[in-house]
Amino acid sequence: MHTSRRDFLVRASLVAGTALLPIYGQPLLANPTFATNPFTLGVASGDPAPDGVVLWTRLAPAPLADDGGMPAEAVPVGWELAEDEAFGRVVRKGTVWAMPQAAHSVHVEVDGLLPDRPYFYRFHVGSELSPTGRTRTTPVAGADVHALRYAFTACQHYETGYYGAYRQLVADDPAFVLFLGDYIYEKAGIEGRVRRHPDEPAADLASYRRRHAVYKQDRDLQAAHAAAPWLTIWDDHEVQNNYSAEESQAGRDSARFLVRRAAAYQAYYEHMPLRRRSIPVGPEMQIYRRFDWGRLARFQLVDCRQYRSAFPCAAETADRNRIPDCVERRDPARTMLGAGQERWLFSELASSPARWNVLTQQFMMAEARRPDESGAFGFAGDGWDGYPAARERILAFWRDAKIANPIAIGGDSHAFIASQMSIAPDGPVIAPAFVGGSLSSTAGDEFDDMVRNSPQVRFGESRRRGYSLVEVTPAASTLTMRAAGDATDPQTTTSTLRTFTVENGVPGFA
Ligand SMILES: [Fe+2]
Repeated sequence: MHTSRRDFLVRASLVAGTALLPIYGQPLLANPTFATNPFTLGVASGDPAPDGVVLWTRLAPAPLADDGGMPAEAVPVGWELAEDEAFGRVVRKGTVWAMPQAAHSVHVEVDGLLPDRPYFYRFHVGSELSPTGRTRTTPVAGADVHALRYAFTACQHYETGYYGAYRQLVADDPAFVLFLGDYIYEKAGIEGRVRRHPDEPAADLASYRRRHAVYKQDRDLQAAHAAAPWLTIWDDHEVQNNYSAEESQAGRDSARFLVRRAAAYQAYYEHMPLRRRSIPVGPEMQIYRRFDWGRLARFQLVDCRQYRSAFPCAAETADRNRIPDCVERRDPARTMLGAGQERWLFSELASSPARWNVLTQQFMMAEARRPDESGAFGFAGDGWDGYPAARERILAFWRDAKIANPIAIGGDSHAFIASQMSIAPDGPVIAPAFVGGSLSSTAGDEFDDMVRNSPQVRFGESRRRGYSLVEVTPAASTLTMRAAGDATDPQTTTSTLRTFTVENGVPGFA
């Protein structure tokens, strides 16, 4: 359904003399009025620091229209941040321009705040007010913090489930949420599912924006964003299934694919509470970054898509989900992170003062073996099993540099997985790796076979949807898998599936 913006934007009352002032070389709308509230996509905050956080919203009175129901003009948006939910003690406020080039999204980097405390924020435009969001700052760098509770999840396919698990996540009151990829899915709508995508696949800027707008209208997702700051990284479906760097899933027409990737990255930036360093430049966008919680935990958020080597074993198979153990797969020159990001990761680890070092990435990191009818093992070429030398470099660095308590968390598998990673199959455990559930995306039938045949995997459940809640103290990191009763039921309730405890100084979980 496409609706003209004129149905929503009744009339801009232009203030004489300021209506067409050039700002960044374009017209602006000083005092807009709306027929409906333009904050249809909610509010969000992200990338918190000891002294500040990013506040996000997007003006979209007609969220599925190409222009979001907005004029091609810059619009001033007011924001305020307070110590209390009633906004009696406002500590920061200002005005930013929502620009048509950025789909009238707004990213405010607030600074000058006090560490380790909650704040409340909201936006206004014309006479319209946004919902209120709650966010928080992190402890001072190096602070001797004794407790942290955070949540992580991934893979929220809109068509295959509702987002009811977020209601329990909000009730669990995490300090922040890590979203590990597949925030949207790009394919065209399919009939007979619980909800429906737009008919056209997301493939250019307008359709990626529309896809994000479909997802962002979900009330449970909006409530989860409004409850805590998020830190997001992408996987493949924010652009295209199984893409590698500049190679699309279909082939190697990289010039054409990079145009698509640029559009997808632009729309991703527009819809996530990211800092200025992530503003895309053409088809490039930096999302890898460090996130510290005092001296208790350091999170290395990495990008396993943009800089990776091409899909291996293409001469042997076109099936990226089941590749043989070909020579190319084991080539030590293959990289998952790219040389620059890998160097960055190792320097972040080497300089980490933290008691816990959480590699925050997209995949099941442990080896997954997929037997075929002949009994031979296949591997998922899209994840770390397509890049085993790159994985081994990380495991060896954790071990040889004596990095304190490394843990890998990931998404992608559409399952809950707990595994113990080693370099040699029977070698000592170096670190645990968890997949924290998919919020709503479903898995195939072969999952149980994989679990049975993969010695590193100690627990796997692919029939349940949800997230993980992690309680961290200096002594232990306890991960609780939270699973929805039935994600196809919008009223579903969520309960604990399993709990795993990692003790300080002991690799793996008990
Ligand atoms: Fe996914």
